Amino acid sequence: MSNSDFIVRGEKLVKTFTSREGLFSKPKTVTAVDSVSVSIRKGETFAIVGESGSGKSTLGRMLLNLMTPTAGEVTFEGQAVNRMQGKALSEFRRDFQIIFQDPFSSLNPRMSVADIVGEPLWLEGRLSVGERRQRVQELLQLVGLRPDQADRYPHEFSGGQRQRIGIARAIAGSPKVILGDEPVSALDVSVQAQIINLLEDLKEKLGLTLIIVAHDLAVIRHMSDRVAVMYLGEIIELADVQDLYAEPLHPYTRALLEAVPAAQPSARQDRALVKGELALSGGQGGCKFASRCPFAKPICQTTAPKLLMAGSSRQIACHFWKEIAAEAPMTVKPDRTAPGLARKLEIYRERQARNAASAAQ
Ligand SMILES: Nc1ncnc2c1ncn2[C@@H]1O[C@H](COP(=O)(O)OP(=O)(O)OP(=O)(O)O)[C@@H](O)[C@H]1O
Ligand SMILES: [Mg+2]
Repeated sequence: MSNSDFIVRGEKLVKTFTSREGLFSKPKTVTAVDSVSVSIRKGETFAIVGESGSGKSTLGRMLLNLMTPTAGEVTFEGQAVNRMQGKALSEFRRDFQIIFQDPFSSLNPRMSVADIVGEPLWLEGRLSVGERRQRVQELLQLVGLRPDQADRYPHEFSGGQRQRIGIARAIAGSPKVILGDEPVSALDVSVQAQIINLLEDLKEKLGLTLIIVAHDLAVIRHMSDRVAVMYLGEIIELADVQDLYAEPLHPYTRALLEAVPAAQPSARQDRALVKGELALSGGQGGCKFASRCPFAKPICQTTAPKLLMAGSSRQIACHFWKEIAAEAPMTVKPDRTAPGLARKLEIYRERQARNAASAAQ
């Protein structure tokens, strides 16, 4: 794969935060992202998953230049983002948009939908008032809202509709990449399915690249091409979505997949692989997952495994993934996860295929 196939790349990205709990306590440093390299392909949906606090949002924000890395570099279409200025920087800002988890708090309650969606266009200053109004109406239709809803305010909409408004605003300036930070976590399952479907539809129509941050594996499964699994600031497994779900290799990925709500919650508890909380201070020089890993051996406590290729399109950071896969193959195929969401998506997709077929006739 040549470099031009990648739209965004992060090279050895590090982000540390220093905070002081009390006035006289020693400052504490947290490494939220610990030397992560990622390359996002043009047109793919790239998912970042992991527990709360694993550094997903921090990584996403650095890729978007909303946060300056402590070390490392982000490139967008081959250009270093931290050296962009003037026109290049404003183009980057237009090309890379974000949609948030909570559509309510991210929309200004005192602005009408027309103003919220039209603001990026107004800032760009290229369209007249009339043209802007027309474009806003087109955008609302594109996200499944009615043009006559443009003069209403966010509180007059449901959660799903508000997320549609946020999406309309994000696509207003015709971006190339959209980062969704938990874009459907605040919505219930049937609305989740609609929004996932909308994002996929827009991705096709507008040729977008999507980066989706989520802790919900059912969501990731149904809307991504590749998945990076993060643990305490590091990527510990990266794989095509089918491979990851068919055979998760890292003990942590296995544990995550088993934690997806199953049809029988009691059966799920028996199979729980990892116990305990995400420890903020990982292993001292060893594998950060060692203290929770059921397969850990002495070397895991002292030597951190590197993220290495495992097959042609997969990377994994575990000393013993081969042995684990041979000795303890995953017995539970997580196929029956989130049946509600899977079924709803199927129905939407069938409907869409029917509509496309009848439109073609
Ligand atoms: N502005 C900040 N100041 C101090 N610490 C921060 C800041 N932002 C994040 N952190 C810390 O960095 C770590 C990673 O946070 P981050 O928000 O990236 O995790 P996340 O994977 O997105 O979690 P969640 O699923 O809860 O959103 C956490 O330990 C968090 O407390
Ligand atoms: Mg987050």
